[in-house]
Amino acid sequence: EKGGFEHFMLKEIYEQPKAIEDSLRGRMNASQGWIKLGGLNEYINKIDNADRFLITACGTSWHSGLIAEYMIEDLARVPVEVEYASEFRYRNPIITEKDVVIAISQSGETADTLAAIELAKERRALIYGICNVIGSSIARASHAGSYTHAGPEIGVASTKAFSTQVSLITLIALQLAQVKGTMPTSKLREILYELENIPSKIEETLTLDAQIKEIAAIYKDASNFLYLGRGYNFPVALEGALKLKEISYIHAEGYPAAEMKHGPIALIDENMPVVFLATNRSAYEKIVSNVQEVKARKGKIIAVVHKGDTQIRALADHIIEVPETEEILSPLITIVPLQLLAYHIAIMRGCNVDQPRNLAKSVTVE
Ligand code: M6R
Repeated sequence: EKGGFEHFMLKEIYEQPKAIEDSLRGRMNASQGWIKLGGLNEYINKIDNADRFLITACGTSWHSGLIAEYMIEDLARVPVEVEYASEFRYRNPIITEKDVVIAISQSGETADTLAAIELAKERRALIYGICNVIGSSIARASHAGSYTHAGPEIGVASTKAFSTQVSLITLIALQLAQVKGTMPTSKLREILYELENIPSKIEETLTLDAQIKEIAAIYKDASNFLYLGRGYNFPVALEGALKLKEISYIHAEGYPAAEMKHGPIALIDENMPVVFLATNRSAYEKIVSNVQEVKARKGKIIAVVHKGDTQIRALADHIIEVPETEEILSPLITIVPLQLLAYHIAIMRGCNVDQPRNLAKSVTVE
């Protein structure tokens, strides 16, 4: 049942190329330049006229929501807010019938997310569900939606659910951009072509497994980790840190790289491994200077960079070279080494990666 893998988590990491293909199948065509999300088309007028999108989710799905915020605002120019479902449901938020609420949930059973959409429904917002489990409570409670089609995710740490959420969100952002005319058709096609290439680029990234395992062996006894990224890689930093803490029980924090100097920089010494997501084409020089700041304080630098990078290679203790892609799609690639790093560290520490202590696959109580 684990398909020759030792753990479900590793199997699911390796399944990501196929899971993404499944999540895109029949929903787009790059050469013909179309995107067709059934769930979106049904309500396209209401969605097109929405004043803003509110995204609600928990955990990893909330990280996908942050990526959605960046993408939808960037490509479709509609305001987006992202809320932890547990806060949203209790803080008396302003929700109107002109809002579209996107709920993201792998299991479709997370109690806080379900309660958040019930509240939004009472206030007459349109609810769009992005779920993996077919027929789940959140899928049923939504007016419209799309399934991620990642297949069953057994490992408690979410991996392929995250990457299929992000690929689906990309389609949503692109379709919105198309409807709103906020993006030239040529650019839209370029991104669609690149999205089709993502599965093979993830395959290529997975071949770095042995190298990542060596890095894991060096840092497995660390008591803290910092993950830093900017732009589209900021949510990836959060997700990388969450993966590490939930399965290896090492304290880890994700931060926007530039926010480091507002506090976390005080933590950096020779015992602090810092994982940089440094594949951005925009803001590259700014990341280089963040890397220099860590190096000056003797932090250990593990950097995820594009193949052929020279500047960060010269500064980092370890570099993980991943294939280059469109910047908006980079989370789909950069998350992979972080999943593998967390996996190997957890195994080396003797942890139960598929069923970490204190955690359940779906949190059906608040
Ligand atoms: O099923 P959901 O996507 O609603 O679950 C949300 C979180 O409980 C979940 O992502 C959790 O954070 C994972 N264990 C992270 O790997």
